[in-house]
This record gives sequence, structure tokens and C-alpha cells, in this order.
Amino acid sequence: MSNVSENRHPRAELEEGLPGDLRQSGDMPILTVSTVAFRRLATAAAVLLALIVVSGAAVRLTGSGLGCPTWPRCTSTSIVAPASYHAWVEFGNRVVTTVVGVFVAVVALASLARQPRRRDLVLLAWAQVAGFVGQAVIGGLSVLYDLAPPFVMAHFLLSMAMVWAALLLVHRADPGWHPRRPAAERELTWLLRLVSATAGAVLVLGTITTGTGPHAGDGGKHIRRLALPLERVTQLHADAALLLTGLVVATLFAVRLTDTTAVVRRRALWLAGAVGLQVAIGYTQYFLNLPPGVVELHVAGATVLWCAAVWLQLGLAAPTAAAPVAVPATRTARPQPLRTAATDT
Ligand code: HEM
Repeated sequence: MSNVSENRHPRAELEEGLPGDLRQSGDMPILTVSTVAFRRLATAAAVLLALIVVSGAAVRLTGSGLGCPTWPRCTSTSIVAPASYHAWVEFGNRVVTTVVGVFVAVVALASLARQPRRRDLVLLAWAQVAGFVGQAVIGGLSVLYDLAPPFVMAHFLLSMAMVWAALLLVHRADPGWHPRRPAAERELTWLLRLVSATAGAVLVLGTITTGTGPHAGDGGKHIRRLALPLERVTQLHADAALLLTGLVVATLFAVRLTDTTAVVRRRALWLAGAVGLQVAIGYTQYFLNLPPGVVELHVAGATVLWCAAVWLQLGLAAPTAAAPVAVPATRTARPQPLRTAATDT
């Protein structure tokens, strides 16, 4: 946290007028966070929120979901785990969760101390605090209801929503950010929306597959699974993944053949790589009969793929080094070339 001067943007003049700055009676702020420091904090929080998905999956895949049979205490008498492998895996994940929670809280507080303070950043940062509280409740309910699939599914899907909000915060916290029109033709903008929606649908179908499959989280003991035909659910999930693959291939062509920025083209390539890898892992785990190590990779791959899809979507309005993007004002106007000398990722 430091006082680093930012590149002034006209919007900054407006932002400084927002109410509630952390100021002493005079003009001196009690504590300020620079735009650069805030974006770094937000980026670290986004990475942590993605990592905790993988550590949470490890609890399920080692069958440690009920290693601590109660919540928030690990046993009825102690908050710390007793000396047993599953209890320590579950307790370890609770500790990691606490660290992430502290970090999310720091970002929320930093959003209030950021100079200039911005309402959209404050809302996004505090939305993550709300999401974290929601996750604590759902996680607790999962334990109290013996890892019932709907709670485990909701736990994963809320994590994906939080990762989306965290990436949006990183995107908007860029000191060069200001509202801008999408750096693409309308058709490409819609194609990218379709890609994100399909990726979301594949995630939901994936959680249904998991809720129907054998990895309940407690070594398969006493856990009711979703009463669905596993083969058919898996098939549907894989079909949706193949549809997504087709859409991403179409995106690769679209970003080459139409006017857009280098940022969008680069992010489309990342997404294509993530989809290819994830589909390969998906079929590998299926044909190997779901070994926990490969399923863990599949969860990590799903998280990376979701980040890549969201990041690509945000890339349409990403700040870049050069002048503002020029997009034709009307469909009949002669298209102006879009900037391609982007430095952003
Ligand atoms: C775009 C590609 C894909 C994405 C984003 C994706 C995502 C997911 C997600 C989010 C889960 C649930 C993880 C959890 O709840 O912990 C899942 C589970 C699963 N996926 Fe995929 N998947 C993809 C492709 C595939 C493919 C091609 C197959 C091939 C059959 C496949 C097979 C499975 C199976 C069998 C499960 C259940 C694993 C378990 O029992 O825990 N997936 N997937």
C-alpha cells in the first residue's frame, strides 16, 4: 500500500468527488492505496480464488469431505483436527479458506482506501466478501447434510461466479480502464458471449456428472448421489464440451478474419489451448475410470478454462497502450482499422 501517482484520466477527476474518502479533517487521507497497488491486490485475490477450487477438489477426491464431521468446529469438542489423515486434509482446506478470506477482506478494505475511490470497484470487491460468506454457509451445509450433491455443486458454481467477479475487478482496476465500446464487430461480440454461456453450461453439466458419479467426497460411503443415469449425463456433458470446442474453433477463425485487437486474438488462443487440454483430460479420466489424480487435473482445467473464457470476453474492452479503439458508428459506415499494438495480456 503506497502513494503512487497515477496517469490522470478525465474520469479520475469525477471519481475523486465520490463521497466517503478515508480522510482526516483536512485534505490528508488517513490511508491510501494506489491504483497500481490495488490492482496487484485484486490480481492476487483472483489467483487465490482460483487455487482454492483445486484445494477444495483435493478434499473431495481424497475422500476427506467428512474428515471434520462438523462445522465450524472440526469435531464436537475442538476447532483443530484430531490426528487423522482425512481430518487434516479437510482441516488444511479450512485453513487455506481462512487465508483466502482474509485476503478477500483486505481487497475490500483497500477498495475503500484506493485513490481515487470508485464505486464499481468497491461494489465488486465487497461482492467477493458476500460470495465468501455464501461459500462458508454452503460449505457448512455440505458437511451438515453429508455432502449432498446439490450443496457440493452449488459450492463449485459459486466459486466460478466469484472467479468471474474477481477477474472483472482486475480488468476494471487497470489504471488505464475507462468505459469503451467492444473492440470487435457485433457478430464477434455475440460469438464470444455464446462461448462464455456455453462454457458456463459445460461447468453446470460437469457438476451434475460429478454429483452422479462415484467421487462423493467421503470414499463413497453413505452419500446419496443424484438419481440419474451416469453414462447419459457424462455423454451430455462431453457433447456440450465438444460444442464449446467447435465454438472456440469458430472464434479462432473469426478473430483472424475480422477487425479486432491483438489482445482479443491472443486471449482467443489461450482459450483454444485450455479447451483442447481440458477435452483431452476429460476423455482420459473417462476411459481410465475416473482416477482421482486425473479428476483433480480436470477440475483445475475447468477453472483455467473458465478464467480464459471470462478473460477473453473482458478483452473486448481491455485497456491498451495505444489510442482509443475506433469502431464504425453505424453498420453502413466504412470500418476504421482497430488498434492492434496492444500491450495488455
Ligand atoms: C470444455 C471441456 C470441459 C469442461 C470445462 C469440463 C468441466 C467439468 C467440471 C466443472 C466438472 C465437475 C467438477 C467438480 O464438480 O468437482 C466435470 C466433471 C466431469 N467431466 Fe468434464 N469438462 C469438460 C470436458 C469433459 C469431457 C470431454 C469429458 C469426457 C467424457 C468429461 C468428463 C467428465 C466426468 C466423467 C466428470 C465427473 C468426474 C467426477 O466424477 O468427479 N469432461 N467436468
